[in-house]
Amino acid sequence: MSVIKNHIVQLSAYKPPLEGRDPDAYTLLDFNERTIPVGDSIRQALHQYIDSGRLQMYPSYGDIVERLADYAGVDSHQLMITNGSDQGIDLVFRAVAAPGAEAIIPGPSFAIYHQCAKVEAMSIVEPQYTKQGGYPVDQVISAITPQTRVIIVSNPNNPCGTLVSSEMITRIADAAPHAAILIDECYFEFSQHTMVPSINDLPNIFVTRTFSKTWGMPSLRFGYLMSAPENITALCSVRGPYDINQMAIVAAKAALSNPDDVTAYVNNIMQTSKPLFEAWLQKTGIEYWSSAANYLWCFPECARDVGNHLQDQGFLVRPKMYGDTLGLRITIGIPEQMKSLMAAWEKIGES
Ligand SMILES: Cc1ncc(COP(=O)(O)O)c(C=O)c1O
Repeated sequence: MSVIKNHIVQLSAYKPPLEGRDPDAYTLLDFNERTIPVGDSIRQALHQYIDSGRLQMYPSYGDIVERLADYAGVDSHQLMITNGSDQGIDLVFRAVAAPGAEAIIPGPSFAIYHQCAKVEAMSIVEPQYTKQGGYPVDQVISAITPQTRVIIVSNPNNPCGTLVSSEMITRIADAAPHAAILIDECYFEFSQHTMVPSINDLPNIFVTRTFSKTWGMPSLRFGYLMSAPENITALCSVRGPYDINQMAIVAAKAALSNPDDVTAYVNNIMQTSKPLFEAWLQKTGIEYWSSAANYLWCFPECARDVGNHLQDQGFLVRPKMYGDTLGLRITIGIPEQMKSLMAAWEKIGES
């Protein structure tokens, strides 16, 4: 007999396909990462920190909360830092779950929501996104019960890139005042859409963000969560005092001192690379979902073969199912990377 809770023994770990992700062998278009390294100022700040001989000290965070609050346009009491946005998501689930609780997680979506709900033994209701209708708002609202404790709005959603309007989110928040509305703005800098201005009016919304995508530092695990001050105070009692490592703080502070680098990257991806790739997909008749983020979910014929062909040509992309149909979620890289990808794709069937 296991000492572990039975429902946890039944779980399986979330294992993203990390094996073989060798950046020297492949252009990595499979995890929605930034596809070029971060700027020199961040590297220098990390080197300086290591050289300062302070690795033996516990982290001390200084003014990072104030600096992020300034960046995000919130009061510092409305923000807390987290170990990646995964931790922000987990904290919300842990803090609100109760026996018999339900989570509404529109799918397909990012796997961590399911994992967090299952760890808390919540039951999951999963209305489906559609290409035409996007986020299934009416089904979400009809699924609300007195047991609903979390409703996910992944904005934009991974893998489909669909955005939910602020009006719709407000409708959901008003319809479920007893539930946490978890708005995942992981791709905020790409989408430029945010629910942050509503934090003052809606006490049940929680907005998570990250430095893993546009800011280019998923390896350092840094994110932040914004909500009403009383929610932040409560969640800070669930998070550990040192959960965020010092290197992440050093890098994030250096990154925040040079936000133009992120703006330039986002503009390059969203204004040059994405239209280029979309035009090519349209020309070649490959269907895709329109996306507010740095990835496109495409549905070529024989998607598995296309994925394998691209891998042979040195590009990793991510297979993602929509019902019974396999699609490929492709991260948008800089224009040169996308031109090489398209050239490689066009070689399919040649050899
Ligand atoms: C929608 C979404 N939320 C959260 C995350 C996790 O971000 P982090 O690295 O900050 O934990 C991802 C990562 O791919 C994501 O796609």
